[in-house]
Amino acid sequence: MPDNDGSANEQSTQPVGAEPAEESARPVVTRRDFIAGAGLGVAATAIVAGGVAVATRQNVQTTPQPVVQTNAGGAVVQAPAPAPNVAAQPQTQGQSQAQPQAQGALPLHMRRVTLNIDGINRDVVVDVRESLWATTTQKLGLNGINLGCDRAQCGACTVVIDGRAVNGCSVYSARLGRGQKIQTVASLQTGPGVEGLHPIQRAFWMQGGFQCGICTRGFMMSSYALLTANPSPTRQQIAEGLSGNICRCGEYVKVYDAVEAAAAEMKNPPAQPQVLIGPPPPHTGNPATASYQFVNPLGSDEFIGEVNNALVLIDGVNGVSGNATTATVSYWPDQVNEDQIRKAFSDAGYPVK
Ligand code: FES
Ligand code: FES
Repeated sequence: MPDNDGSANEQSTQPVGAEPAEESARPVVTRRDFIAGAGLGVAATAIVAGGVAVATRQNVQTTPQPVVQTNAGGAVVQAPAPAPNVAAQPQTQGQSQAQPQAQGALPLHMRRVTLNIDGINRDVVVDVRESLWATTTQKLGLNGINLGCDRAQCGACTVVIDGRAVNGCSVYSARLGRGQKIQTVASLQTGPGVEGLHPIQRAFWMQGGFQCGICTRGFMMSSYALLTANPSPTRQQIAEGLSGNICRCGEYVKVYDAVEAAAAEMKNPPAQPQVLIGPPPPHTGNPATASYQFVNPLGSDEFIGEVNNALVLIDGVNGVSGNATTATVSYWPDQVNEDQIRKAFSDAGYPVK
């Protein structure tokens, strides 16, 4: 598994670090200010009251934003609004559209940065509290990053920055203007049409590794980071590598199938036609059982559940029960044998004898 620093798993906290003096002197603004300023359209309480009541300090947005109420008592939608003090600037879609402005004219909480996104440098003025997702979606008009939870929990927004999977909802755009290479799912495709799909994209499609698709862009980017660092991951390593991504539709098995299929194709260029991995045919009869002794006893009997979770990822393994010293495996001999089960124990970090 790749080093997790800054990974999707470890984006649950905002970046913290010494800030320039001008940042420490910036006006205090609430999270609501930030959300309203970024045009996220969720300042519902104030909006329902008939307008946006944004608490402000000097140099911070004071202009009420236009709102649209769909119907009485119904859902309320705030019209997208530009970030504070950026209203006069055009949307920045690339270097050619960058709007020159003297640095001194920017408020303390704004920065002009050049983001290298999918190989293209894009000049944009950002609020220092603005996420990469907000910048790419709301200012640059890109759709490569999806938003799920907006709080570093689901991984739907995963991008790859300098080779590492990172939550786009929780990394500040203002900190990404120092030449970091930001990759969204849009960077994967190599050409037009189906033939131009990256093996990971083709694999998710062929293996049906999605349902509603909300999580898919994030899963693809975490898979890309994983397969770049480890071209031959085990099933367990795939599960670990994608552990920062949540699929509410529960398509994990097909997602893991897709990563395995993509890994196989990426190891054997030119791309081989993928074989659809479907569910195994139903078994008849009863599964076999085998018992193993742990080389290192588990901390307590309860940890046998974790062993079970790791082993059932292996095709043919039905389940694992037992206690801190002994594991009893139920399995289908036509799919997996005892040597493969021993190896699966070892790969999962629970060697047996
Ligand atoms: S982790 Fe970023 S949207 Fe959920
Ligand atoms: S496909 Fe719906 S959340 Fe993953």
